[in-house]
Amino acid sequence: MNTRDALIHRDPAGSYPVITRGEGIYLIDEDGNRYIDGVSGAGNVTLGHGQKQIAAVMAEQAETMAYCFSAFFTNRPALDLASRLASIAPGSLNHAYFVSGGSEGNETAFKIARLYHLQRGNERKHKIISRWRSYHGATLGALAASGLPGLRAPFTSWLPDFPKIEPSYPYRCKFAGCEGTCNLTCADQLEEAILQAGPDTVAAFIGEPVVNAGITVSPPPPDYYHRIREICDKYDVLFIADEIITGFGRTGRWFAIEHYDVVPDLLVFGKGATAGYMPLGGVLLTDDIRDALDEAGSFPHVFTYVNNPVATRVAWTVLDIIEREGLLEHVTRMGEQLETASKRLLEHPIVGDIRIKGLMMGIELVRDRATAEPFPASRKVSARIPQITMEHGLHVSSTSGCADWVNGDDVRFYPPLVISPEEIETAVSVLDTALDQATREFDV
Ligand SMILES: Cc1ncc(COP(=O)(O)O)c(C=O)c1O
Repeated sequence: MNTRDALIHRDPAGSYPVITRGEGIYLIDEDGNRYIDGVSGAGNVTLGHGQKQIAAVMAEQAETMAYCFSAFFTNRPALDLASRLASIAPGSLNHAYFVSGGSEGNETAFKIARLYHLQRGNERKHKIISRWRSYHGATLGALAASGLPGLRAPFTSWLPDFPKIEPSYPYRCKFAGCEGTCNLTCADQLEEAILQAGPDTVAAFIGEPVVNAGITVSPPPPDYYHRIREICDKYDVLFIADEIITGFGRTGRWFAIEHYDVVPDLLVFGKGATAGYMPLGGVLLTDDIRDALDEAGSFPHVFTYVNNPVATRVAWTVLDIIEREGLLEHVTRMGEQLETASKRLLEHPIVGDIRIKGLMMGIELVRDRATAEPFPASRKVSARIPQITMEHGLHVSSTSGCADWVNGDDVRFYPPLVISPEEIETAVSVLDTALDQATREFDV
């Protein structure tokens, strides 16, 4: 008899606890085991599980008016949310287009960038430059911009071959001259890529303010985005900030790009906008881009769930909760506490680097801290850490390949923003235990 579930899971050999309840930062499975959700679902469950106020708002909106099609009607929750986002977003990002997730948001931003240039008579501008090691989504346009070869490989024949530059990755910086002090060669690569592609063909550059895909938590140096902005302006290239994981408070600001004092032309959000209670993504655009879209006439792009009233009502409530609970300040404080608490993790010889921005923490594991030499991938070090933490009630994630695409291990912790100081201490203690055990197992 075939004992497989009818449901397809990501890893056919994986075993997946069946989660039946969520309470605050905890997930609880059908056997009653409790796990700290150390990665906030998929980085989206920013307000924790079991938020009754959000559940009530969803029910009320679904009973009152669950849906109307954006091609023929508009609705109050979407109108109100757009105005409120305009008031918190930086610069003149005063206009919003709501979709159902991050990938759809990036697809939408690319089309808007293209239409903007067409409207201004720049017919040839269509290429989107992005960075290796970034993730922008699973749909084909967003995947084309993503710099993760493992995800792209089976589908490359469908992906336009747009230019990619290196990310800012100070821990393993590849550029000569950058040892010790950063001279932003990684940002200058954007100018080289634009010149090589032909400035008249480049529509936009997309980057996450803090990368957390092919490298865990790699905040760029303070001037990095200034340089990116200058280069974009010089060549009439739009700057798209992918804030899908960093937006809505993750780093202690509404949007992480605010740390760099730069205003993008398009800002894409998702995940934390609805704290995981409804699928929602969207694009914020500047006055100039809105003007060009309006001049162009009808926007030839639609999804069934554009401007969904239940999702936008949930996002409104998320903003209420973030403001009422002072969560931006809380994240800043908790990030500082995490920084202090996690110092003791550096005592484990396998810890090469710990990087924190707000409530995002990445731990890079190495065989030799002095040289940052990674473990060989065959030892599967990164996969082992979450197994150990799960035995102690903490769910974290890990990836491999950060050093040279094959070798290099990291562990990721980005808990719900509502985490308390005591819960941070508990999570760091479990990581301490896991790193201690792994150090012994891997004979370091
Ligand atoms: C930075 C970033 N961009 C885009 C996406 C894609 O978003 P979604 O999975 O909602 O389509 C993700 C999802 O992990 C992400 O982290």
